[in-house]
Amino acid sequence: MRYPEDKRLLVENALNDFSSSGGKYPKLIYEAMRHSLLSGGKRFRPVLLLVTAEVFGANPLDIIPAACAIEFVHTYSLIHDDLPSIDDDATRRGRPTCHIVFGEDIAILAGDGLFAEAFYLLAEKQMVDNPNKIVRVIKELSDASGPRGMIGGQVLDVLSTGKKIDTDTLEFIHTHKTGKLIRASCRIGAILAGASADELKAVSDYAEYLGLAFQITDDILDIVGETTSLGKEPGSDERKKKATFPSIFGLDRSRELAKEAVSGAKKALKSIDKNVSPLINLADFVYERNN
Ligand code: IPE
Ligand code: IPE
Ligand code: MG
Ligand code: MG
Ligand code: MG
Repeated sequence: MRYPEDKRLLVENALNDFSSSGGKYPKLIYEAMRHSLLSGGKRFRPVLLLVTAEVFGANPLDIIPAACAIEFVHTYSLIHDDLPSIDDDATRRGRPTCHIVFGEDIAILAGDGLFAEAFYLLAEKQMVDNPNKIVRVIKELSDASGPRGMIGGQVLDVLSTGKKIDTDTLEFIHTHKTGKLIRASCRIGAILAGASADELKAVSDYAEYLGLAFQITDDILDIVGETTSLGKEPGSDERKKKATFPSIFGLDRSRELAKEAVSGAKKALKSIDKNVSPLINLADFVYERNN
């Protein structure tokens, strides 16, 4: 088993604690946020963050709030991605999507709530030896989430729906809508662990390739995957005429391109003089995954 189950469980428990309403008002918003958050995602980004931090010498137990913050942002992005006006999907993480259960109004607000809570979590709970680190981490997460990052990719995704686009635009979409948060996961782990500038550069290059590979495999799974393992209905991209790797390159070539991106990720780690095998294992997981 390549996937670090111990770290996934740490994240799982902490997400439950950090999102609990604890009697807070209005209860409905916590219910909606927790509906999407606590429904069994892979926790790939927080696990990647913890693995990276550990490679550079940190104790994962000290980095849990930052790991959960990135999962809060990711879950918010999924809630909004599934809305009728974006991908219009009814199933996510094996459950009806947030807007199906709570309505579009509350689903939009649940996404907004998770986004804000991510930064509250960082400022309130993430302990650091030097407060500048938290400012750096907030800069990484906000930059990766916004118009230069995930949102920029989502905008191009929406604008490209139903259109023939060139491969540069397709790569832009993938490296931004998905790649930027994955890159931020690695960078935040490395920053909190005190990695050097050269190490940070190497791990960022690794994560850029990894993010591209992750979205190519997501596109492939939308064709060949199964609802029970995916937790979402395959066929969504074809139905919406989304710009994807298989729609432009076909399935076989897309698999090759995913493999090449994973190889690029592994090569980028070569300059790091640490035991990087947990990061190599995660790169293999991205290529081999079926969920
Ligand atoms: C799905 O992400 C959306 C993408 C950005 C590709 P994941 O495949 O990580 O979904 P979960 O978090 O495991 O549900
Ligand atoms: C999702 O890409 C990217 C973000 C949520 C930012 P997709 O639209 O392909 O993700 P799925 O397939 O719905 O999980
Ligand atoms: Mg989408
Ligand atoms: Mg989608
Ligand atoms: Mg998809």
